[in-house]
Amino acid sequence: MSDLAQRAVAVTGGGSGIGAASCEQLAASGAAIAVLDVDVVAAEQLCTKLLSAGAREAVPFEVDVREEGEVEAALATAAERFGGLHGLVTSAGVFYAEDATPLAEATSETFRAVLEINLVGTFHAIRHALPLLQASTAAGGPAGSIVTVASTAGLRGHGFGAGYTASKGGVISLTRLLAKQCAAEGIRANCVCPGLTDTPMQRGALENPEFEAKLAKSIPMGRAAQPGEIASLIVHLLSGAASYVSGQIIAADGAATVV
Ligand SMILES: NC(=O)c1ccc[n+]([C@@H]2O[C@H](COP(=O)([O-])OP(=O)(O)OC[C@H]3O[C@@H](n4cnc5c(N)ncnc54)[C@H](O)[C@@H]3O)[C@@H](O)[C@H]2O)c1
Repeated sequence: MSDLAQRAVAVTGGGSGIGAASCEQLAASGAAIAVLDVDVVAAEQLCTKLLSAGAREAVPFEVDVREEGEVEAALATAAERFGGLHGLVTSAGVFYAEDATPLAEATSETFRAVLEINLVGTFHAIRHALPLLQASTAAGGPAGSIVTVASTAGLRGHGFGAGYTASKGGVISLTRLLAKQCAAEGIRANCVCPGLTDTPMQRGALENPEFEAKLAKSIPMGRAAQPGEIASLIVHLLSGAASYVSGQIIAADGAATVV
């Protein structure tokens, strides 16, 4: 059963792409939403839309997930304002063109820079959301649910992007650890691994006809996902409709990882 209307959910990277689409679907269900993004203008504009789309509340926070104090303060403020916190989506992430070099030419600067956002940033969000989810769950609210966003790159590697691939592998492992640690208190954690998705992160690539043609061959469904097709899985996992699903690493990739 969907209990989204009773939930307050924080979404990192909520200002764009998959995070924004998740916020939009949460809004349509009447949830309260905290949008955490380094791009505060995008977060503010989205919150205005979310309120007219049915969100109980929608509050933007300017947060760089690399900055632990910013993450902690935003989550605490959101929980205080919403009267608790029942969900977290960690969608903030980057892919840098400099990362797409052969490993023998990769730099530790780029490797660290990607890990700092995609993996350490995810850790910061989980670390500071978890006590809030625990308190809200113990108080009898909807049981806490965390959905991390990794990538098919973390499942099988794409043959490029050392930092990106390692960061997403780390997110997958962290989610499994979290699910085991929190299961007894009724808190769930799952990881969604999108395949190629039509968001600002990928738009440059998708506008290249050569790449598009290659794509048709590498993805059995022959197309990229729309962000809403990833968001619907994220929102399902957040909700009580997935009450016995935890510790799962689920690809939404048009059958691309089928061997
Ligand atoms: N688009 C794809 O093909 C694809 C495929 C697999 C996985 N993913 C993953 O999905 C997630 C969302 O990506 P997207 O495609 O929606 O990209 P996007 O660029 O549209 O959105 C990413 C959001 O994260 C925010 N962000 C970036 N760095 C941040 C930081 N340091 N602190 C806070 N916010 C920050 C950006 O401002 C942006 O709003 C990412 O983790 C990405 O790795 C995307």
